[in-house]
Parts: sequence; structure tokens; C-alpha cells
Amino acid sequence: MPAIPVSDVDLYTREARTDPYPIYEELRALGPVVRLSRHDLYAIPRYRDVRTALMDWRTFSSARGVFVDPAMNAQLEGITLCSDPPEHTTMRSVLGRPLRQDRMRDVTPTIEAEADRVVTALVARGRFDAVTELAAHLPMAVVSDLVGIPEQGRAKMLEWAAAMWDMQGPANERFTKAAPAVEEFMAYVTHEAVPGRIDPDGWASQLYQAAAQGELPRDKCPAMMLDYITPSLDTTILAISNAIALFAENPEQWDLLRADRSLIPHAINETLRLESPVPQFSRVLTEDHEIDEVLLAAGSRVALLYGSGNRDERHYQDPERFDITRRASDHLAFGRGEHVCIGMHLARLEMGALLDRLADRVSRFEIVTSTPLINNGLRGLQHLEVTVRTGEHAATAG
Ligand code: HEM
Repeated sequence: MPAIPVSDVDLYTREARTDPYPIYEELRALGPVVRLSRHDLYAIPRYRDVRTALMDWRTFSSARGVFVDPAMNAQLEGITLCSDPPEHTTMRSVLGRPLRQDRMRDVTPTIEAEADRVVTALVARGRFDAVTELAAHLPMAVVSDLVGIPEQGRAKMLEWAAAMWDMQGPANERFTKAAPAVEEFMAYVTHEAVPGRIDPDGWASQLYQAAAQGELPRDKCPAMMLDYITPSLDTTILAISNAIALFAENPEQWDLLRADRSLIPHAINETLRLESPVPQFSRVLTEDHEIDEVLLAAGSRVALLYGSGNRDERHYQDPERFDITRRASDHLAFGRGEHVCIGMHLARLEMGALLDRLADRVSRFEIVTSTPLINNGLRGLQHLEVTVRTGEHAATAG
């Protein structure tokens, strides 16, 4: 049986967070499983193996956490993301109710109206930050309202969520720095964002109502509130701003989209495939397991590298190319299987509404400056200053 190759790459340096793709390529070339000596972790870098692992929760368990640091994994054991069926099934069914595809009809008018408002205002200015001014608007304004969290926490929401993501990596400097904000966030969801202070018609309130009806233990509610807030903001903000950056760099793809709006869903998938905002989560093996004749021992923690699988040359032709006519709906950016992203319909709705409104008005994006986001759990841009040109230029193509 072949030995497992070892790599001493650090996936958490500034350079690796900015551009992990050369490292991913190296790992994919090394084998189906690579031991990452710096992180006490095995990496699964190839598309097929990541997908297979995601579809097999009995062997690749989430119940011992899906992050890197052992203390963080112990602390968050039992939240929706870090559990297996049957506990997971119960929490997920309550949590997912307002996020089901058929429920998106309820929120579509608000999201479309807000998308129209923000795009009109920013395009009139001609220059704006596509991360903080454009992409952040819908998740911050709309999602916070839908969850129904009290006003006084909202200003801190992004800082808290980013800190939660920073603690998903190893215990490096970023991780340590994030700890106080995470504590504040935990205190907020436990003591502040509680019935009486949350919007009685919001999603958070529905969790407490489900608990009152005996569907789940009440003490799960604060942690489930984290499930609505932590993964719903930055992920979508990064996905939206990544799309703008990709269209600025590939203007011919923007022309295609402007000419044929039915390409919007494909453009969303292609953006998520090429620039995955959540590059990895991990699992723990419940039994000895072979991947392509490589044996991994029970108890091993494996990092499923979604961002690497999404650029696997074994699966995608010309994987580095941004091509919105590619049918990339099989990408791994939302995960797969039991834990597949519960908010993906909402994220798609937000992205689609903005792209559609932008396509009405913008003929070209030009990047003035961009700054990478350096975070242990997320990847994308912190700032993306763009100028936009308006006019009929490409729209006349369709
Ligand atoms: C483009 C935006 C988004 C991306 C890239 C993304 C990515 C992901 C990924 C990769 C997972 C899989 C976790 C795993 O494999 O263990 C996941 C799960 C999850 N996501 Fe998202 N997400 C996005 C938007 C959202 C939104 C808008 C929400 C909430 C409103 C949300 C809530 C969740 C929750 C609660 C889970 C855990 C589901 C479970 O464990 O069953 N996400 N997301």
C-alpha cells in the first residue's frame, strides 16, 4: 500500500490565504491524501475524493468538529455544522425552514428592491467599493432583518462573524486575536438576541418557537442563531465581490451575461467554483478507510479542500478559466451531502438580483485597487474599488 506523502506547506500564511492555488496544485499532484505536517491534518485535494467524502457522513463525521484547532472543535461540538444524523437532521430541518427554495418567494421582492436601490445609487456615483458598499448591502440590510436580531448588535455583526471564521483555522496569531470578539458574539446570542428582544416574526424567533413545541432543546437555540449569522454574511459578500472582480478581468464574459440573462445562474456557479469563499472544512474518520489505495486510520482529521477540488484538472477542463457558459453546477463551494449549504438558495438569490440589476446599467467594470481578505476560514477580497462605465455597449449584443 503506498505511503501517504507529507507536505510542510502552511495553508495559513498571508501568501497562502491570498493565493492558495499553487499550493493546491502541488497537493493534488502529490496524491489523493497528503499529510500536512504543520497542522496535524490530512488534506484531500482532488475533486472526486472530496465529493465522495462529503457524501459519506458515516465514515467522514462532522460530530467532532469541522475546523482545525482541537479546542475550537471541542467548543462547537453539537452545533448544526458540527453534528451527524440523527441530531443533525432535527436541527437542520428547523433551521432550514425559512431557507427552503420554495420559501425564497417570500423574500424575493425585498431582495430585488434593495438590489435595485443599491445598484442605482452606486452606478450613479461611478466609483465605489464593490465589497463594502455593494456586496455587503444585501446580507447586512436584508438578512439581519430576516433573522430578526436586535438593532444594537448589528453594527458588530460583521466583526463578530469574521472573528468566528478566523477561529476556524489553527491557533495562529489571527486565531488568538479573534477570541475576544467571539466571546462577545457568544454572549450576545445567549443573552441579548433572545425572545422579547428579537423580532417575533423573524427566523431566530422561529427557533425558539420550535423549542417551545418540543422540536429541539431550548439550549440549542443560541448556537443555532450563530448558524444564521456567521455563515450568511461574509460568504455571500465575498461571492458577490468575487463575481465583480472576475467580470472586470473578463469583460467578454460580462458581455455574454448582459446579452443573455439566462446565463446568470451559470455565472454564479462558475464564480463560486473558481473563487470559493469557504476553501475547506474538515471531518474525522470514524473507521480505517482507503482512498485510492491509500489507507487512513480511524480518528484522522481530514481537510476537504473544496477550493482545490473546484480547480482539479482531473474534473474540470481548463479549470483556471472563468467561463460562464461552463455548466459548473457540480462545484463543491456549497459542500455536498448532509451538510450542503442551507443558505445556498438565499445566496444565489442575492447574487442573481445584483448581477441582473448591474447588467441593466453597467457596460464595464474597471478595478482601481483591490485588497485581499486575510482570514483563517474565508477567502476573497476585503476591498475592491471599481469604476463603472454605463451605456448600451454590450446590451445591444442580445
Ligand atoms: C455564497 C455564499 C455561501 C457559501 C460559499 C457557503 C458555503 C457553505 C459550505 C461549504 C457549507 C458546507 C459545510 C460542510 O461541508 O460542513 C455550508 C453550510 C452551511 N451554510 Fe453556507 N454558504 C454560503 C451562504 C450561506 C447563507 C446565506 C447561509 C444562511 C442564511 C448559510 C448557512 C449555512 C449553514 C447553517 C450551514 C451548515 C449546514 C449543515 O451543517 O447542515 N450559508 N455553507
